[in-house]
Amino acid sequence: MDPRKDVIEERLQGIKRIIAITGGKGGIGKTSIATLLALKFAEKHKKVGLFDLDFSGPSAHILLNKKKFDFPEEENGIIPPTVHGIKFMTIVDYTKENPSPMRGIDVTNAILEILAITRWDKLDYLIIDMPPGISDPALDIMKMIKRAEFIIAATPSKISIPEVANTIKFLQNTKKSIMGSVINMIFKGSAQLEEKLEELDVDVLAKIDFDEDYEDAVGNIAKLRQTAFAQKIEEMTKELPFRK
Ligand SMILES: Nc1ncnc2c1ncn2[C@@H]1O[C@H](COP(=O)(O)OP(=O)(O)OP(=O)(O)O)[C@@H](O)[C@H]1O
Ligand SMILES: [Mg+2]
Repeated sequence: MDPRKDVIEERLQGIKRIIAITGGKGGIGKTSIATLLALKFAEKHKKVGLFDLDFSGPSAHILLNKKKFDFPEEENGIIPPTVHGIKFMTIVDYTKENPSPMRGIDVTNAILEILAITRWDKLDYLIIDMPPGISDPALDIMKMIKRAEFIIAATPSKISIPEVANTIKFLQNTKKSIMGSVINMIFKGSAQLEEKLEELDVDVLAKIDFDEDYEDAVGNIAKLRQTAFAQKIEEMTKELPFRK
């Protein structure tokens, strides 16, 4: 029995809702959705945290244009630095953008450790940027953060539909709560994906077009806030699952 597992529950107890952004394949918009959602909540004066738990490909700091990496302050735990009104925890504060190759149990230990030492204190929302699909570290996080609710990022590509369907089925089989799906990078409709989501009884929370100007906004907060992507995330936060 690892005592850190009990500590995690305690560390998270001041958080009202934990929302994890997951999906099937990589590169489908998880980090963008997680970061824009956190920025939106901060704009609405909610107490919000953003936890980049994608250790092998952390990238929320790039969207947020965080370039200074210092060891976060410590006081009976680690206090996440505040970036654009968001309490933001990323492994990059420790790796300084160097590679952090970890295998098997080392990843599990790193996730356990960071969850056990981070002091979120009181939050309205903690947004988690998840590693892809049902990969090893994603399974660890799903097990360690029991009350996380999931938003499924999905793209309409035929190649990605079976994988996202499997993530959904896994979450449903393990009795996790799914808030709904954000369909991203639409360029020729999304009928096939929507059919699949309906079959799996997953609501569509937002539909976001592929936007060739989006890349220009990455790392530029003012521009990011003006993207159609951000607009859709704003509309989404007015939907029922967010008003609980
Ligand atoms: N709607 C969109 N239009 C255009 N480009 C987009 C859109 N959404 C995301 N992108 C781009 O696609 C890439 C992947 O997005 P993002 O990093 O948010 O996805 P991810 O699922 O977190 O990826 P990873 O699996 O690598 O963590 C990024 O370069 C991002 O700028
Ligand atoms: Mg990502």
